[in-house]
Amino acid sequence: MIESEPKIIIENLIKIYGDNPRRALKIWRDGGTRDSLLQTTGNVLGIADVSLTVNRGELFVVMGLSGSGKSTLVRCINRLIDPTSGHIYIDNEDIAHLDEKRMREIRLSKISMVFQGFGLFPHKTVVENVEYGLKIRGIDKVKRREKAMLTLETVGLLKWADYFPAALSGGMQQRVGLARALATDGEILLMDEPFSALDPLIRREMQEELLALQAEFHKTIIFISHDIQEALKIGNRIAVMKDGYIVQVGTPEDIIVQPVNDYIRAFSRDVNRAQVIKTGSIARPTITSIIGGDSLEGALAKMVDYNLEAMYILDGDGKPVGILKRRLLEGGIEQGKVEINKVMETNFPVAIDSSTIENTLHLWQGGIPVAVVDEKGKFQGAIAISALLASLKGSL
Ligand SMILES: Nc1ncnc2c1ncn2[C@@H]1O[C@H](COP(=O)(O)OP(=O)(O)OP(=O)(O)O)[C@@H](O)[C@H]1O
Ligand SMILES: [Mg+2]
Repeated sequence: MIESEPKIIIENLIKIYGDNPRRALKIWRDGGTRDSLLQTTGNVLGIADVSLTVNRGELFVVMGLSGSGKSTLVRCINRLIDPTSGHIYIDNEDIAHLDEKRMREIRLSKISMVFQGFGLFPHKTVVENVEYGLKIRGIDKVKRREKAMLTLETVGLLKWADYFPAALSGGMQQRVGLARALATDGEILLMDEPFSALDPLIRREMQEELLALQAEFHKTIIFISHDIQEALKIGNRIAVMKDGYIVQVGTPEDIIVQPVNDYIRAFSRDVNRAQVIKTGSIARPTITSIIGGDSLEGALAKMVDYNLEAMYILDGDGKPVGILKRRLLEGGIEQGKVEINKVMETNFPVAIDSSTIENTLHLWQGGIPVAVVDEKGKFQGAIAISALLASLKGSL
């Protein structure tokens, strides 16, 4: 459940690391590059004029190569580091230059962070680790224990409550880190490569678990990753960064189907496109006939004009009810039939626009263009097998 209501709005955010960021900022604004800035001032442009909006309930992934500025971006959002310039609105309050006291309140009430190295206290038990965030929020002992146990149950670790972290595997430890962040009820979750230290199988499990938890809790999550497969799998939207800039922001499909340049294209080279592309984005509007709207001869004329071998027939609500095949239509006319529903076939392949190509591949078996409908059953277009193949090859 993603709402279109913005939760975090970042405007023209700039972070320069070094001894004189103001001077460096001026040089950069006067046309200096990231490299020249480093050479002439020794200062590093970590974030270069980033603007983006993350909506309430969204799982927003920030992706990019090492050094592209991902960690800098999330650390600015909870003010672990101070931005050099720009605005960060959380619930319409600009936190980019807030005083430390108010910022502490915001961190405590709204933001939780999950780190790559788990960040657990080795000398506290699992449940004490989970409680920690509640303790610093001043929640009393009984209540925080209760909440911590409840959250441990959510992540499937209840029976490990009294063990020390060292007794747990990497995946379990990261789950404790996740439980600690979830226990605080903060609406915003910042996750900086939380799964990258895990081996692939456990990592996939954690991704599934995060998606399941998100379906239940609807947090606003900023998740950093440098793994495109992970980003495509979990992200509602993905921002791809390079050298402190955002190169492209879009849905997983946007990134795969409409990469803005070769940098983005290179990321998606090894991606299984069938798992990402949805039928809705490659369905093309086609000529159709409304039932009762055309005579058999009229329908045939349309098909001849547009060189169609098959044409979908829709009902008055715009839902597909049958398919007319040219050969059968011609036969029907010869036999003197007059009603289209006597010659159309009602058995035709149909896919919902939100389903992936991978999950619908079997529908093309008969060679008939697949009808694509929205969740209400309304016809959105059709996909011929040639269009399907083009989309998989990347030439669409
Ligand atoms: N404390 C710092 N002082 C100086 N430069 C820094 C500091 N922290 C980060 N940088 C520089 O800022 C740039 C962005 O770093 P950042 O850590 O945000 O990248 P990242 O995308 O998170 O990389 P990674 O994938 O390796 O974690 C890099 O060039 C880095 O060298
Ligand atoms: Mg980083």
